[in-house]
Amino acid sequence: MRKKIVAGNWKMNKLADEAVALASELVNIANDEVKGDVKVILCPPAIYLTTLKKYIETSPNFALAAQNCSDKASGAFTGEISAAMLQSIGIEYVLIGHSERRQYFAESNELLAAKVNIALENGISPIFCCGESLDQRQNEDYIGFVKNQISESLFHLSAEQLQKVVIAYEPIWAIGTGLTASAEQAQEMHAALRAHLAGKYGSEVAEEISILYGGSVTAASADELFASPDIDGGLVGGASLKSREFINIIKAR
Ligand code: PGA
Repeated sequence: MRKKIVAGNWKMNKLADEAVALASELVNIANDEVKGDVKVILCPPAIYLTTLKKYIETSPNFALAAQNCSDKASGAFTGEISAAMLQSIGIEYVLIGHSERRQYFAESNELLAAKVNIALENGISPIFCCGESLDQRQNEDYIGFVKNQISESLFHLSAEQLQKVVIAYEPIWAIGTGLTASAEQAQEMHAALRAHLAGKYGSEVAEEISILYGGSVTAASADELFASPDIDGGLVGGASLKSREFINIIKAR
């Protein structure tokens, strides 16, 4: 059975006291209200990871992710954070290839393959993000485009390594726009990506990979999205910054 996951990507939001307040509120409410085996992964700015670890440790359902890591092991790379550093403070997941990093920091499929490798070498599970732009959806083979992102950044992995990866499909046109993909649109892509994984690794492996949907997920849209057979949870941006809204999304899972 693949894992059900709801991840909250805080991006570059929240000051220190606000971050602590949000994380502790989420853990407290989830302990009371969230039943079942859903994994909740908070992705705060890296500067808060050590502090927040203490707050989430009281709940077995919660884990932390960094929003990025370097593709390099260590050395003269001012401002960067290595996968080994994340591992040294007990971080279990890292977002790799979020569309904002691909767009604003020119991260290529090749660079992301290197980040995936170094995360795995340090025992950290990549949450690998992929997705097409509106222009690509309207004018190109958009499913082929996303499949290619996966082939170029993940298909060098062994089946055993791939099973540690979580995939997040996030159509760029749905991120932060209020335009959620319909459950049909998301399911179409998720099924195509799972078939793509099955073509390379076999269906048994593909069936074990959690594929999350991201892009303007709200409590109102989560039920229908998460009911789709190939959607195993969500990567939530804006709505993860409000405790009640995020808890309701977790409960939809
Ligand atoms: P959004 O962001 O939910 O605000 O659209 C999702 C994401 O960027 O991960």
